[in-house]
Amino acid sequence: MWSTRSLGGPCGRPTSAVVGHTIGSAKLIGARPRPCAQLRSLSRPTATPETPPHPQQRLHPRCLPIHPEINAVIYSEDVIEARVAEMGRLIGQDYQHTELLVLGVLKGAFMFTTDLVRHIYPYPASLEVDFFKASSYGSGTTSSGVVQLDSAFKLESVAGKHVLLVEDIIDSGNTFSRLVAVMREAGAATVRVAALLDKKARRRVPFEADYTGFECPDEFIVGYGIDYAEKYRNLPYIGSVREEFIRH
Ligand code: PRP
Repeated sequence: MWSTRSLGGPCGRPTSAVVGHTIGSAKLIGARPRPCAQLRSLSRPTATPETPPHPQQRLHPRCLPIHPEINAVIYSEDVIEARVAEMGRLIGQDYQHTELLVLGVLKGAFMFTTDLVRHIYPYPASLEVDFFKASSYGSGTTSSGVVQLDSAFKLESVAGKHVLLVEDIIDSGNTFSRLVAVMREAGAATVRVAALLDKKARRRVPFEADYTGFECPDEFIVGYGIDYAEKYRNLPYIGSVREEFIRH
């Protein structure tokens, strides 16, 4: 007998619509109210109740081969998930009686922001999420030094709010020193920054994030939202690109 919870991946995430129900025998399933046809197909176990699933079947679908253009994985999916969860708890403790506005900076922070907000606990009094685009790199490997802000973003929406800017990486510090100043000028009550990665060795403008995931090596890294010429954002881990795929 096992429950459908065991059909989840290594992270223990449930994969079916009948989580929490023991489905040890067909008789037991039959005793429950009959689900609609769609739910029935979702809740069907992948093996007979007498035969536990082969360990291979338990693999989470995200356990994919490493991308062929990646040299090495620097932060694995599991390591990132654990650290993001820790950051969420720290942020939750600091904002638990506060109305919080989380602003993810696109594009690089799209993945980090969506994971981070799921881990912010204790829950703030309220939590709003928004995104805006800021860009300091073209398609090359070095910062242009000019930060372009998304003109479609309504800056007045931050007035009086407790703002948490979420960023994938701080490198030269240009983007964030500029963004924090812009938010303050727009009347934000407080402004803090959560950055998953901090490349301190590359700093040109003094800047410290309030919450940092990892202080990372000065390598050209990609994945988990971070791109090189718009590639690799989809990778669930952070890795370095093989030298032959970098244009110098
Ligand atoms: C990256 C990153 C930060 C910025 C950090 O954005 O997401 O916003 O660079 O660099 P800095 O500390 O030197 O300013 P990028 O301009 O590559 O845009 P993207 O997020 O759309 O990839």
